[in-house]
Amino acid sequence: MSQENIHRLDGSIFGEDSADGMVHRAFLRAEGFSADAVRRRPVIGISTSWSELNPCNNGFRELAAAVKRGVEAAGGLALEFPSISINEPFSRPSSMYLRNLMAMDVEETILASPIDGVVLLGACDKTVPAVLMGAISAGTPAVLVTGGPRPVACWEGRDMTVDEQWEVIDRRRVGEVSDEDWRAFEGVIHGGPGSCNVMGTATTMAAIGELLGFALPGSSLPPAAASRRQLVAEASGRLVVDVVARQIVPRSLVTMAALENAVRTTCALGGSTNALIHLEAIAGRAGLRIGVDRLREWSSTTPFITDVKPNGRALLSDLDAAGGIPAVAARIRHLLHEDVPTADGRTWGEVFDGLGTPQAGAPIADPAAPLTPDGGITVVRGTLAPDGAVMKIAGAAPSKRRHRGKAVVFDGVADMWSKIDREDLAVDESSVLVLRGVGVRGGPGIPEVGHVPIPAKLFTAGVTDMLRVTDARMSGTSSGSVVLHVSPEAAVGGPLAYVRDGDEIELDVEQGRLDLLVPPDELARRTPVGASAAPPARGWGRLYARHALQPDEGCDFDFLLDESLLDETLLDE
Ligand code: FES
Ligand code: MG
Repeated sequence: MSQENIHRLDGSIFGEDSADGMVHRAFLRAEGFSADAVRRRPVIGISTSWSELNPCNNGFRELAAAVKRGVEAAGGLALEFPSISINEPFSRPSSMYLRNLMAMDVEETILASPIDGVVLLGACDKTVPAVLMGAISAGTPAVLVTGGPRPVACWEGRDMTVDEQWEVIDRRRVGEVSDEDWRAFEGVIHGGPGSCNVMGTATTMAAIGELLGFALPGSSLPPAAASRRQLVAEASGRLVVDVVARQIVPRSLVTMAALENAVRTTCALGGSTNALIHLEAIAGRAGLRIGVDRLREWSSTTPFITDVKPNGRALLSDLDAAGGIPAVAARIRHLLHEDVPTADGRTWGEVFDGLGTPQAGAPIADPAAPLTPDGGITVVRGTLAPDGAVMKIAGAAPSKRRHRGKAVVFDGVADMWSKIDREDLAVDESSVLVLRGVGVRGGPGIPEVGHVPIPAKLFTAGVTDMLRVTDARMSGTSSGSVVLHVSPEAAVGGPLAYVRDGDEIELDVEQGRLDLLVPPDELARRTPVGASAAPPARGWGRLYARHALQPDEGCDFDFLLDESLLDETLLDE
């Protein structure tokens, strides 16, 4: 169907003096809206993924109500609509497997509905990129409201954030946590709705929402249950009415300059490695490609300056008190494009000018004396990762930045768990743990299983970090020397599929290299391991296996990219 033949709905249909107008108003009146309310303009959709299957997004009913107050105060009509919801721990085979489905759901609902603009609610990791990707492709003016972090727990007399659960889980593995404590811990660690309370994927994506101009500056860190978060939501409801009046379409916000600001700020924050995949997917919806070379250049020249968990010492609330994401971006303003617009219409330069100097004790380092000089995240490539791989340097042992060791290979998660804690596993502290067959096709859905645990016999001997290499992703709440998203993955025959136990692998962060030190003629004699089983015959699994792109292309579906990128990327007709 040509564009001209599509009857594109907008909110004006509710005000029309026609049969269509009456029918649309009458259906809304069935919901209890008054004759006056159904004639208000603009009509704003509120995209919610509230679900009891998604504890992180469980505060969205209250947030949506606050958005409605703002829309109504600005003269509009707000109509809430649901999309699917994706929660990290509850989603199988992985949350990434479903991100594109949620993006399609949001895009098509926006396009199908008589609305002039949309407020996007997102919190748990995949729900923020999914709503942004959908809204960019739909093209309707959009504002993002994120859910905010959940409360920090108190355990054994100290503050405990979500990332510290891994330490308790490791201690339980080696018999150091009693049954009673184990049971008590589950009731304590997550003290209410909201996203993970560290600089993990959810918080990083909220920050990116600010940097790209979808979310109000400073809106990422007020806690989920705080009155300030309700104020953010109400202000965003007022704001979207203005964004509709100015006809700011999402695509116009996604420029290479805004993407560079987002990548550099992610590196300054020590943000989640997952963000790089989502940013490439967001770029692709707007017809842009960031690419491994730009990522490497931007990440290697941006200092890591944010001393918050899981990579540093402070809590998100300390960073919030110090001015939040804008205060971090301001410290690297010399590296940013200051003319990029914010959600409220100011430029980032104007926002920075309005900030005071950071107070003493703020968890933001001077860029002249950074926590690491070359960014919290780095991108490497080489003979083991021709299309790139990603590593979070923030939180990794400095000694592992340049490391050569012998591979210990695991083919998938079940193989890893069957071997990792065995006394006879041939492994020492210098080994390189390789987990393969868990990428986009192999997982499927590139699950967050890349944080290979330290083998029990080494862990109990005091080893806390080892070099690990995988085609999987890793939770943004994890840290350690883990090289992730190795592309191409083993399941599509990438070099990872040819590695054998005992092969030497070399990482050199400074040179941006990840190499398999095996001669090409020897590799040519080997058969690849880790190819995935036959893809599912039907349904979503079939669509996913045919169309999901590798991590360096954002893991989006080839046919969902902006039309300008389709020819070069379509995998299969
Ligand atoms: Fe939902 Fe971390 S599991 S934000
Ligand atoms: Mg996560």
